[in-house]
Amino acid sequence: MRKHRQFFLISAGPTREFLDPARYLSNPSSGRMGIELARAASRLGHDVHLVHGSCSIRLPRSPRVRACAVTTALQMRKELCKVFARSDFLIMAAAVCDFRAKRFSARKIKKTAPGAHVLKLVRNPDILCELGQRKKHQIIVGFSAESHDMIRNAKAKLCAKNLDFIVANQIGGTASAFGSKTNRVFVFGKDGSSNSYARISKKRLAGLLIKFFLKSGSA
Ligand code: CTP
Repeated sequence: MRKHRQFFLISAGPTREFLDPARYLSNPSSGRMGIELARAASRLGHDVHLVHGSCSIRLPRSPRVRACAVTTALQMRKELCKVFARSDFLIMAAAVCDFRAKRFSARKIKKTAPGAHVLKLVRNPDILCELGQRKKHQIIVGFSAESHDMIRNAKAKLCAKNLDFIVANQIGGTASAFGSKTNRVFVFGKDGSSNSYARISKKRLAGLLIKFFLKSGSA
C-alpha cells in the first residue's frame, strides 16, 4: 500500500550542450509538459522535485515543488541520480540531448579556424535507461518523441529502459508536441495496456496522466 503523499521526481525541458561560449546543441522543447505535470502533482497534494533544462514556461510557484535548474545532460543526470532513491515516481519528460561536443572550447571557435565546420560528438548517457536499471519501488515513466513509427519505437523504449509506462508523442510537422500548448498521446504500460488521449491542452493532459499513474501505482 502506497503512502498518501507521494514524491514525484519530474524532468522537463531541453538540455543544452555547449560547443563553445557562443554555441550549443539543443532541441525545440519548451518544457511545458513536464512543468504541467509538476503543477498537476502538486495540486493533488504531492511533493515534486522538478529538474528542468532551459524552459520558456513559467515554473510552478507551489511550496510543494522544488525546482532545480540544469543546463546539460550530465548535470541533469547528476541531479536526478541524487534524488531517485527517495522518489516514488520518476517522470522523464525532458528532451535530453543524446550527444555533446567531444571537446568544449572555452574560447569562441572562430569561423575561419581550420576545421571549424567539423563537429566531433560523443554520446551522452541515457539517464532514463540508467535509472531503469536502478529501479526498486519506483514507478518509472518515459516520454517518447517520435517523428515516424511512433508506436513501435515507443514500445521498444518501454522494454529497453525497464519502464512501467511510456508516453508516445509525435514530433515534427504541424502536429508536433514540441513548443505546442496541446498534445495528443498514447500511453503504453509494461503489462501490455494501452490508452490514448485525444488532443487536449498539456495542462489538462498532465492532470489526467498524473491521476492515471497514481491509480496504476496503487493497484
Ligand atoms: N532520455 C534520457 N537520456 C537520454 C535520452 C533520452 O533519459 N540521453 C529519456 C527521455 O527523457 C525520454 C526517453 O528517454 O523520457 C525517450 O527519449 P527519446 O528522445 O524519445 O528517445 P531516445 O531514447 O533518446 O532514442 P532516439 O533518440 O534514438 O529515439
